[in-house]
Amino acid sequence: MNASEQSASDRGSHSTPALYDAIAGIYDPWSASVTEDIGYYVETSLDSAGPVVELACGTGRIAVPIAKAGRRVIGVDQSAAMLDMARAYAEREGVGARLDLRLGDVCAPPVPERVPLVICPFRSLLHLEGDAAKLRALCAAAALLEPGGRFVFDVFAPSREDIEETDGRWLEREPGIWERADWDEAAHTLVLSVRSGDADVSFALHWLDHRSWERLILEAGLVVESLHGWFDRRPFSGGEDMIWVCRRP
Ligand SMILES: C[S@@+](CC[C@H](N)C(=O)[O-])C[C@H]1O[C@@H](n2cnc3c(N)ncnc32)[C@H](O)[C@@H]1O
Repeated sequence: MNASEQSASDRGSHSTPALYDAIAGIYDPWSASVTEDIGYYVETSLDSAGPVVELACGTGRIAVPIAKAGRRVIGVDQSAAMLDMARAYAEREGVGARLDLRLGDVCAPPVPERVPLVICPFRSLLHLEGDAAKLRALCAAAALLEPGGRFVFDVFAPSREDIEETDGRWLEREPGIWERADWDEAAHTLVLSVRSGDADVSFALHWLDHRSWERLILEAGLVVESLHGWFDRRPFSGGEDMIWVCRRP
């Protein structure tokens, strides 16, 4: 049974497909230019003893390179179609046996194991609306960690320039793949729409400033080991990108 079939049987015939199901086939070409984070997460994984849990692992863009570097990865995602892409990618790269893919929610991941490293790359926590949902995910990540283990994730908070440059405009991000950002600065919400061929989907991202993230991280029982402003590990100095390295005491 592939992940799509498993998903349908888990959720019953009245199930709602996950949002990313509709764009699983174009996700990799759509995000082709995003490569700066791969080395960062691979190095972070090699610094830890393994295995690694990746929350919201998608098509394996990060998980497969980590598996190729030698670490076992448990990947969790709510989109069965994205997991099918990840499985196919891992098989093509010869690391299918190192990737354990599980359909589930980042707020209640189906992972009984305890690990030294949990990651959640590419702003995935911003899909969760509101502080309560974000806190649930942070608590779930903390609960997966062995004492001393790390939770590493990245998020962003847009600059005024970024909002003004992109708001309400369709941009051809990759050949044949169009993207539009509709920003609501007061509500801290970005509605991102993607179109290519038959695929047409919009989803919301809900950002927070760094002080709010720090408060939630502490509330989840984690400590902040470092906050980077980019994947070269430069310290955060108030820019758009935040890469949080948190530790379970
Ligand atoms: C931007 S993609 C990131 C995928 C991958 N981590 C990467 O770096 O390419 C966001 C992923 O989050 C997943 N996702 C969103 N909300 C989720 C939730 N509540 N539980 C599990 N997965 C979720 C989506 O299905 C999608 O695969």
